[in-house]
Amino acid sequence: MMSVPTRKILVTSALPYANGSIHLGHMVEYIQTDIWVRFQNLRGHQCVYVCADDAHGTPIMLRAQSEGISPEDLVQRIGEEHRQDFADFSIGFDNYYTTHSPENRELAESIYQSLKQNNHMTSRVIKQAYDPVKEMFLPDRYVKGTCPNCGAEDQYGDNCEKCSHTYTPIELINPVSVISGATPIEKESEHFFFKLGDFEDMLKEWTKGGHLQAEVANKLAEWFEVGLAEWDISRDSPYFGFEIPGAPGKYFYVWMDAPMGYFASFKNLCQRRDDLDFDEFLAPDSATEMYHFIGKDIIRFHALFWPAVLSGSGYRTPTAIYAHGFLTINGQKMSKSRGTFINARDYLAHLNPEYLRYYFAAKLTSRIDDLDLNFEDFAQKVNADLVNKVVNIASRCAGFISKRFEGRLAPECADQALYDSFVATGEKIANYYETREYSHAMREIMALADQANQYIDQQEPWALAKQAGKEPQVQAVCSLGLNLFKVLMAYLKPVLPTMAAQVEQFLNIEPLTWQNYPSALLNHKIEKYQPLMTRVEKVKIDAMLNQASTTAAKPTAVDSKQVLKKKGEASIMPTEKEPIAESIQYDDFAKLDLRIVRIVNAEHVEGADKLLKLTLDLGGETRQVFAGIKSAYAPEDLIDKLTVMVANLAPRKMRFGVSEGMVLAAGPGGEHLHLLHPDSGAQPGMRVK
Ligand code: 2FM
Ligand code: ZN
Repeated sequence: MMSVPTRKILVTSALPYANGSIHLGHMVEYIQTDIWVRFQNLRGHQCVYVCADDAHGTPIMLRAQSEGISPEDLVQRIGEEHRQDFADFSIGFDNYYTTHSPENRELAESIYQSLKQNNHMTSRVIKQAYDPVKEMFLPDRYVKGTCPNCGAEDQYGDNCEKCSHTYTPIELINPVSVISGATPIEKESEHFFFKLGDFEDMLKEWTKGGHLQAEVANKLAEWFEVGLAEWDISRDSPYFGFEIPGAPGKYFYVWMDAPMGYFASFKNLCQRRDDLDFDEFLAPDSATEMYHFIGKDIIRFHALFWPAVLSGSGYRTPTAIYAHGFLTINGQKMSKSRGTFINARDYLAHLNPEYLRYYFAAKLTSRIDDLDLNFEDFAQKVNADLVNKVVNIASRCAGFISKRFEGRLAPECADQALYDSFVATGEKIANYYETREYSHAMREIMALADQANQYIDQQEPWALAKQAGKEPQVQAVCSLGLNLFKVLMAYLKPVLPTMAAQVEQFLNIEPLTWQNYPSALLNHKIEKYQPLMTRVEKVKIDAMLNQASTTAAKPTAVDSKQVLKKKGEASIMPTEKEPIAESIQYDDFAKLDLRIVRIVNAEHVEGADKLLKLTLDLGGETRQVFAGIKSAYAPEDLIDKLTVMVANLAPRKMRFGVSEGMVLAAGPGGEHLHLLHPDSGAQPGMRVK
């Protein structure tokens, strides 16, 4: 094995917002980064991995208000939840902090002062949408209305999802504040801008320096083409964040202090680690390396603004930015209504985290392509590779060694050439890890696992064991099998740290590293074998998906819709429990004829944004109903389901045809709608009383 000089490396993953749960989409990045960090440490480098909750901004402020708690308390609670999720997926952060920390405040203030002193800041008065009821400026996403270009309703204040037209919130037709339902007004306010254009030459040079993936460098070239506009880094009170020094009522925009949170978390770690020196890592001429793993949606902040801010304030710039693609589930965007929005916690309740670590590793490359989690493929791959190939080597050899040789391995290697070829593949695998080509690394390891199994198949230790005088051969074959297995586990250790630890105990060895793995275990006593990994079972996947869809249906959410009004204010997105309506007499209720129906067909309606056309079987009679449930359900998911309809509602003529009744659903609307389904035994046509 070649010896490699020790490197000092600081690694980060993007900081998750402190107002929602970690989901499997997030986990792609944390698993990708964690594998890389573990690999570097196993190679003998000093690789430090820091992260934090991204605590600031309007959504977090509003979510805390809606819960009636302080943002600090919200951030604390969610931070603990995030820490536990990450720990249970074996994400080995050296420090997991928060951006709402004294270290980060100090950094944000001092970096801002440097930028100002170096004349990279400017200010001017701008006009913005303002909610006169809530008395706050509204980020674009908090205004909705009709697109001035194509007339599509219910569009956000920055661009139209239908025609992609961009505009300001006030240009919407009938704009409303998502928070209070009030019509926003335009109001002036002074804002502070970072002069990104000052860094055009520096950024162009930096882009050519091998710090970015080719796809990302191309993206930057497009932005250079359009021109580097000044970046607005301030927000008005009320805002949860850090107040800008010398500017009362003005706060740093969350994206200004978020990346500084990487440094703040590292600084906090340095205070309790004697072997780490903050200045050594972050000085402009630092000989250390710094990598940011991120999703492809936040490239602009990391590859454009962040290096410019760093260079304008006297810090080192990143060695590289590593962007990855998004996670799709069964080929589609994660969706709450399809039950494929899966929180980390729901996964962990049913499935081994190392299945997912391996599955992602088997699919990850250094590119920014999206990655699909297909559950059939997931079960098949994990079972075929980890259970049937890798673990199988240990389980078929261990029994012979413990039963016949008191757990002692043979004194010599049965096939040195085979063993050496396993060890020699290490450099190739290391290179795949280093370049984030994990899928190639996994393929290489599985090819070796096939070879190990073939060797055992050919040697047939079970047949040898029945022949007199072949004992030494049985021991030699099974010992080599276990030594090959040990090499494979060293290669898999960045991906499967928990299983690797179990194997170290079973083989009775020191923790495996990239330095010690080549030495074979000869005449060495091992422990009794315990099963290392069980097969992925379909019932567990189903149970997990079931739980995920129940979680997704709960109004615990995360996005800008989850905001709450003050008492008495109208909201177009209520998240509070709706008040119980005025009481009625039984006779009023009895007028409603509610029936069980079977949805025999569901289809899109051309030209309708929100409607699905349902054909309902009412027990012999067929009804056609237009239901506003398109955002929550795909038509194919509804067919053959039972639900409840109001059967005696007078027919209504709509633009698309006559609607002959109404189906019942719960929830605030949009994608948060849940059709009622009767318990088993109910039949189409039965009356609901
Ligand atoms: O996009 C996000 O989820 C952000 N919270 C990521 C911040 S990464 C870094 F800059 F802090
Ligand atoms: Zn439009």
